[in-house]
Amino acid sequence: MKMRAAVLEEFGAPLVVQEVELAEPQAGEALVRLVACGVCHTDLYTASGVDPSGYAPTVLGHEGAGVVEAVGPDVTLVAPGDHVVTLFSPQCGECIHCRSDKTNLCLAIREQQNKGYLPDGTTRLSRAGEPIRHFMGTSTFAEYAVLPQIALAKVSPEAPLDRACLFACGLTTGLGAAMNTAKVEAGSTCVVFGAGMVGLGAVAGCRLQGAERIVCVDLSDERLALARGQGATETLTGGEDVVERILELTDGFGADYTFEATGNVKVMRQAVESARMGWGLCTVAGVAGKGETLDIVPRYLITGRRVCGSSFGGAKGRDQVPQLVDRYLAGDIDVDAFISHRITLDDINTGFELMEAQDGIRSVVEF
Ligand SMILES: NC(=O)c1ccc[n+]([C@@H]2O[C@H](COP(=O)([O-])OP(=O)(O)OC[C@H]3O[C@@H](n4cnc5c(N)ncnc54)[C@H](O)[C@@H]3O)[C@@H](O)[C@H]2O)c1
Ligand SMILES: [Zn+2]
Ligand SMILES: [Zn+2]
Repeated sequence: MKMRAAVLEEFGAPLVVQEVELAEPQAGEALVRLVACGVCHTDLYTASGVDPSGYAPTVLGHEGAGVVEAVGPDVTLVAPGDHVVTLFSPQCGECIHCRSDKTNLCLAIREQQNKGYLPDGTTRLSRAGEPIRHFMGTSTFAEYAVLPQIALAKVSPEAPLDRACLFACGLTTGLGAAMNTAKVEAGSTCVVFGAGMVGLGAVAGCRLQGAERIVCVDLSDERLALARGQGATETLTGGEDVVERILELTDGFGADYTFEATGNVKVMRQAVESARMGWGLCTVAGVAGKGETLDIVPRYLITGRRVCGSSFGGAKGRDQVPQLVDRYLAGDIDVDAFISHRITLDDINTGFELMEAQDGIRSVVEF
């Protein structure tokens, strides 16, 4: 079939919205009609050419939600009409990682996905007979997408898809960092560095876990106001002396849980140093620049602080995204507050400009 999609033709240049071909779903794959898709930093990171593993041409987009239109042979997990959220982090349910409750990093299709192919090593996207590679296994800046069934989370049909799409990346990453990776305990003190989509999600996750104090640190007053809306009990403007200020707020000890959601390695260090001796856990969600390293004075670790990372909030997507969407429907998560702009596919480059200008939290493309 023919469809419109936003193609990354050249790094550093605007995406080009154009007609491309999409082949039918093969064994184990489904055709999804996209209804909405968030614009995330990772799309911009790849488009800019900074991502060392990036390639072009490709159809970007990975924060999608839509409706299954058709399925290929041997598909058992979804059926036409199902409402789905796309998963750049799939869940096969069978690999050694899927069978462990210690990780969400499914191994099933990793290698081909990273190279831009569907699991059988080919693409469904093309233009004038030339294959175009998929991006993050999703390619959702498009009217339709073909995805492996293990990369689709079937969500409640009651959830508006223009909100549900945020669970495909940013929101689940933040919520899950607190709920799955750190497993924040009720009554605890938390500090979240960064109040973008991921940090705000972490604030909401700490609140859902029953944290008593949630301190959010950012440079923008506007974003700190959003953090209070998600449950932050205190806010601080970031800077060199922020660790000292956090220690002052916590009887000199630091927080039970800290979260880093800025991608800045200096802030990651602050997050480690703001964690409490004895048992403080620092969860890193931000993606640092190529070659950057995190500096930790080992004494911080010997005296009982721990550091861990979190990809997609540690969420096993097919199981947990539907549960988070249900919590949104139950009124536990305020998704509307994250959506700052609604745009069309033709305006996709505006979505990138808004993100670069830090104007709003999320632009959502509506198809
Ligand atoms: N781990 C994952 O699976 C995953 C998924 C999506 C995004 N990410 C990463 O998470 C990070 C956050 O993503 P986002 O969409 O929320 O980004 P964002 O740019 O919207 O938010 C980052 C926030 O950090 C704040 N900040 C910058 N410097 C600061 C400082 N010195 N002190 C305190 N705050 C500071 C900014 O003001 C901004 O509000 C990025 O690095 C992104 O690549 C990770
Ligand atoms: Zn993303
Ligand atoms: Zn797996």
